[in-house]
Amino acid sequence: MNKIAAKAISALFAVALGFLATSTMANTDNDAIAERIKPVGSVCVEGDECANAVAAPAAAAGGARSGEDVYTASCAACHASGVLSAPKLGSSDWTDREAAKGMGTLVANAINGINAMPPRGTCASCSDDEIEAAVAYMVDSAK
Ligand code: HEC
Repeated sequence: MNKIAAKAISALFAVALGFLATSTMANTDNDAIAERIKPVGSVCVEGDECANAVAAPAAAAGGARSGEDVYTASCAACHASGVLSAPKLGSSDWTDREAAKGMGTLVANAINGINAMPPRGTCASCSDDEIEAAVAYMVDSAK
């Protein structure tokens, strides 16, 4: 190899190295920017992987959740204020529905969904017993 060729090759090498270095730095910058401008919070809906990650340890650690816990976590969004005319906590709508349909039907409709009431009130990780406990909690709140 003559001297000029060797110089050319090492010059090319230097350019390539420089390019590599800048592009690596650029990536790091992008990551840093992405980290800096990411949203402060994110919405995690029951049934999403992120929600299961939160719900699973609770179920594993504490066994079945109480009716009040399930209500607060999954039902209150609609049943506290009567969104979409959901029967409100503490309202006679609950005792009226229990008298008209019976607890069995109320629980079945809570599990399967009815009209604007989503199946399991969107609590995909809730067992049938936990849904039943939440229904009992809401019905009892009206007594
Ligand atoms: C997205 C809003 C929403 C959420 C969340 C929600 N509900 Fe409902 N729920 C409704 C609406 C609206 C109705 C009224 C449906 C109807 O009678 O047309 C309803 C009705 C019910 C009924 C009465 C069913 C019947 O046959 O009369 C039960 C029981 C019930 N919900 C249980 C629950 C439980 C338990 C949870 C939580 C695990 C829950 N809901 C979460 C909106 C919701």
